[in-house]
Amino acid sequence: MSMLEGAPWLLAHKSMLEVNKPKKVSLYGADYVLWQDRTGKINALPNACPHMGAMLSEGWCHEHEDKTSAVVCPFHALEFDSEGCTILPGSKKKTLPQLEPLPLIIQGNFIWSYGGHKAKVPIPNILNEIASQYEFIGHTADTSVETDLLPMLLNMHDYNHQNGTHSPLFKIQEVQFESFTDRGHQSDAFYNMPTAQTSWREKLSNPDVLLIPKIIKAHLENHFPSLVIAHVENGLGKIAQIHLFVPESKTQTRTYVLMYGLPKHPAFMVLGKKFLNFAKIVVEQDADILRKIYLNTPQKIKLNNEVGMDWVRRNFENWSEIVEPNLSK
Ligand code: FES
Ligand SMILES: [Fe+2]
Repeated sequence: MSMLEGAPWLLAHKSMLEVNKPKKVSLYGADYVLWQDRTGKINALPNACPHMGAMLSEGWCHEHEDKTSAVVCPFHALEFDSEGCTILPGSKKKTLPQLEPLPLIIQGNFIWSYGGHKAKVPIPNILNEIASQYEFIGHTADTSVETDLLPMLLNMHDYNHQNGTHSPLFKIQEVQFESFTDRGHQSDAFYNMPTAQTSWREKLSNPDVLLIPKIIKAHLENHFPSLVIAHVENGLGKIAQIHLFVPESKTQTRTYVLMYGLPKHPAFMVLGKKFLNFAKIVVEQDADILRKIYLNTPQKIKLNNEVGMDWVRRNFENWSEIVEPNLSK
């Protein structure tokens, strides 16, 4: 199964990296250690120490006088700078690079990578646009799921799973599909989801349900293959809930959420934590069903409104040739 080599993947938002705290990320079957130094510089090296293979992400950082830092191996404490060079004990001189840094593209707080592959499609500009207009609320639900990339993407563009996978949270009664606009690697889906009435008892025991409107109006803005933005709006403001995907390996796919808000009312940002928590539950529910699917089951039944999934499959199969929209939809 393809991992869509040549696509850009958002490995993290800077807020996900504590200063001088190594973090492991995986891409295309390789592990890397990512760390942010006090100057805000992001470094990425292969995670296996070239001495005896210890995971550098389990180590720590050593800060230099100029506030840059090196990652320290937890096994024998060799230090590697951002170029992958080290200084051997008893020597005063830096070695040649022992590790090849992972090329990153940093745009503001966004840390992108092509995983060392030649770029086939550009980095979508949408995150920069959102960051310039909205306030950052936070990140949540960083989850690695044992699944191929394709089922993960299909799930995100499946407009019929709300009342199955997500029914415990939102009590969605039906999905009223409105429209799907295909622009090649971009698309927009609009649908409405009436939710069931909650009793006063439920409202009292879980006041969060008060945040769920009678009709959830969903607008999904899709940028194949790395991100889907769920735009949600209520009287108090707008939310951009950004779902990110990273192919960690052929059988392991990571997803997480970045959330931005555009308040119309001061109370809006106070609710940020609640919105984050909803997103976390949504991702947990998706991850849960993805772990319970027999992959490669031939699909004998087709439901209405699988147009989003058709779009994913077409872009997947034609990677990365197709940039022309299918106008017959
Ligand atoms: S394994 Fe890393 S220093 Fe020995
Ligand atoms: Fe979902």
